[in-house]
Amino acid sequence: MMSAVDAPDRTVWIDGDADGTVEVIDQRYLPFDVVVRPVRDAEDMHDVIADMVVRGAGCIGACAGYGVLLATRQVADLPTDQAGVELRRLADHLMAARPTAVNLAWAVRRQLAALEGIDDPAERIAIAHREAEAIADEDVAACAAIGEHGLALVREVHERTGRPVNVMTHCNAGWLAFVEHGSATAPMYAAHAAGIPIRVFVSETRPRGQGARLTAWELDRAGIDVSLIVDNAAGHLLQHGEVDMVIVGSDRTTRHGDVANKIGTYLKAVAARDNDVPFYAAMPSSTLDFSIGDGLAGVPIEERGADEVTLVSGRPSDGGEETAVRICPEGVGATNPGFDVTPARLVTGIITERGICEASEAALTALHPELASGGDR
Ligand code: MRU
Repeated sequence: MMSAVDAPDRTVWIDGDADGTVEVIDQRYLPFDVVVRPVRDAEDMHDVIADMVVRGAGCIGACAGYGVLLATRQVADLPTDQAGVELRRLADHLMAARPTAVNLAWAVRRQLAALEGIDDPAERIAIAHREAEAIADEDVAACAAIGEHGLALVREVHERTGRPVNVMTHCNAGWLAFVEHGSATAPMYAAHAAGIPIRVFVSETRPRGQGARLTAWELDRAGIDVSLIVDNAAGHLLQHGEVDMVIVGSDRTTRHGDVANKIGTYLKAVAARDNDVPFYAAMPSSTLDFSIGDGLAGVPIEERGADEVTLVSGRPSDGGEETAVRICPEGVGATNPGFDVTPARLVTGIITERGICEASEAALTALHPELASGGDR
């Protein structure tokens, strides 16, 4: 266990070379403790993703990349034909860990493509290591570029109004959800570094509270002015001119520009449109899924357990161990969709590492032409 100040720079990394230990920040303990968890093998990485030890689209993708590296080590001593079959089984298992964030399948498929036709175990491990590091490094670079593009939006408001810029976000599309920087938070970090005063309204994001637990923690420790709000306060603040722009992340964005993101995002987009507040979704291009057009019909939405709704977990105000408490009568059922889809018509712009574009097939294709032809991302 570490103090918050000692938190590692990345959310997932390998300690040493191709045979080093893969480690992640165990996000379930934040914001109270920073815990680093080693990951044993590909099945363990599946569990780490499924149990939300790590979460967030980019982070899941990077973890999946390292997961395949672990799989190549596991099959190293098997006869060639068995190794291929077992590697595929482990990869399929990894891909099934969570359904909505497309970065998971994207990273596993990218690894499998790089490993295609490689039978030598040492070469397989070396390639998987190189690819896992590349996926993580590219995530970092993409988020940094998103920060620069988004900074222009924040700067424009500041220069026009001459006052601090009020940004609203939802859930955690911060560095914890990626490898570094974050997508939605990258423009906030860039604005803060550029000396532009900003205040960020962070919605707590029930049921798991990623806004309260993670986004509030990471922005606050970066010295950014954070106002935590209950999810239900967003509409009121948008109505009263308290918000200059909404920036959220995405777990999967379709070629039409429909944005799947944490449950509750759609309601913010509706309220933002009703009050003429711009609504942006920020994501690396690894989150674009051009195989789907209509997000409402096509994006698989994770259904999660009732306990997340009927129980709330936190640290007692007088300190001590984190505890879960029931907030409804014993035996009451719950429905718990993890994500929703905001239709493109409610999205002012999509921010990727390539720039900012309209949420439309034409604009997304113009910026990411290789995706339209089904090429590598
Ligand atoms: O269920 P989670 O925590 O993995 O959900 C993902 C998210 O944190 C959000 O939907 C986020 O805004 C997009 S992921 C960068």
